[in-house]
Amino acid sequence: MRPLSAPPHREGEEWQRLRSLLAPLLLRPQAAARYAGTLHGVVRDLVRRLRRQRGLGAGPPSLVRDVAGEFYKFGLEGIAAVLLGSRLGCLEAEVPPDTETFIRAVGSVFVSTLLTMAMPSWLHRVVPGPWNRLCRDWDQMFAFAQQHVEQREAEVAMRNQSEKSEEDMGPGAHLTYFLLQKELPAASILGNVTELLLAGVDTVSNTLSWALYELSRHPEIQTALHAEITAALGPGSSTQPSATALSQLPLLKAVVKEVLRLYPVVPGNSRVPDRDICVGEYIIPKNTLVTLCHYATSRDPAQFPEPNSFRPARWLGEGPAPHPFASLPFGFGKRSCVGRRLAELELQMALAQILIHFEVQPEPGSAPVRPMTRTVLVPERSINLQFVDR
Ligand code: HEM
Repeated sequence: MRPLSAPPHREGEEWQRLRSLLAPLLLRPQAAARYAGTLHGVVRDLVRRLRRQRGLGAGPPSLVRDVAGEFYKFGLEGIAAVLLGSRLGCLEAEVPPDTETFIRAVGSVFVSTLLTMAMPSWLHRVVPGPWNRLCRDWDQMFAFAQQHVEQREAEVAMRNQSEKSEEDMGPGAHLTYFLLQKELPAASILGNVTELLLAGVDTVSNTLSWALYELSRHPEIQTALHAEITAALGPGSSTQPSATALSQLPLLKAVVKEVLRLYPVVPGNSRVPDRDICVGEYIIPKNTLVTLCHYATSRDPAQFPEPNSFRPARWLGEGPAPHPFASLPFGFGKRSCVGRRLAELELQMALAQILIHFEVQPEPGSAPVRPMTRTVLVPERSINLQFVDR
């Protein structure tokens, strides 16, 4: 496979073809549900790791510092298991060095993107640091993905399973396997696997961090959610819950929606219309960049009374229903998030197992943490939480 030095095509026919291949493999609820077995193993390792990380450093013995850092490793381990069928060891006590490099590159690429986007192109020659860093980050991410995709490619060739389709997917199958079956150009597969790896880490980790942050500060909601989960799955249950069972728990779904309303990890998204469009009283000429700020619309008091309060009940018929487009954390339309079903499944599985094993409490005396944007929305400082055994 030849090395790549640019992200995958984001426009036009090439994008359309890939999107139509990826959507049935990821976006249909039953397609995402087929990854539940793989994800269950990753969630079990996360619970084990949280136990190990408790009490390191100052503070109470059940305190885990910087939970976003822990969930970042979980996000990467989960998406890699689904995409590549490989366990990377992110949740082990000793993280392998190439995985460490990838973790650092994913963390750094958003910062370098923000910096280089803000600089006019002539400035890149005068101050080359941010641009060089951005290229180094992408190179490291591609090299990592390339190594894993090539391993999978060799395995698939050896197994000579070219007649199989996604309908034959066994429990150990992974997305790269299906992309290899479609006989796509190697560069396309690598570009997409790298992009999906990148997109699946920060998004899931930050959302999970905010969910547990809010639940720790609203013990009555946490108790109700714990009761809902144990009634459905059984107390102390470590057996794999079915994706369908989890997706039918109303409070669990409402908690995820409310967290994404308050902390939409992708805080805005954009379109350039290819024809003039009319929005309310305005004509937007074609080729105009239009940016929608989810963060602002989803905290609009006209749609969400007490917009800054964490109130999952607002999604359970507590008051008048908000406009269906008022909170769009996964975007909308044909460019909407292709990882949505997978992200929801990961969040539901992780929240269920964490609450079955632990009561999550705030760090004693800690001040509220606010969000800030770093291309994606992140906590302005570390979120530290106590994980007390149930
Ligand atoms: C809580 C988790 C997540 C949130 C809130 C989120 C949000 C978003 C948003 C707002 C967009 C832009 C949508 C638009 O322009 O209409 C997007 C695009 C995308 N997301 Fe996600 N995402 C999440 C998780 C994931 C995961 C786990 C993956 C990978 C499996 C992923 C892969 C992608 C990709 C590839 C795109 C580009 C889609 C395209 O242009 O065809 N996302 N996401």
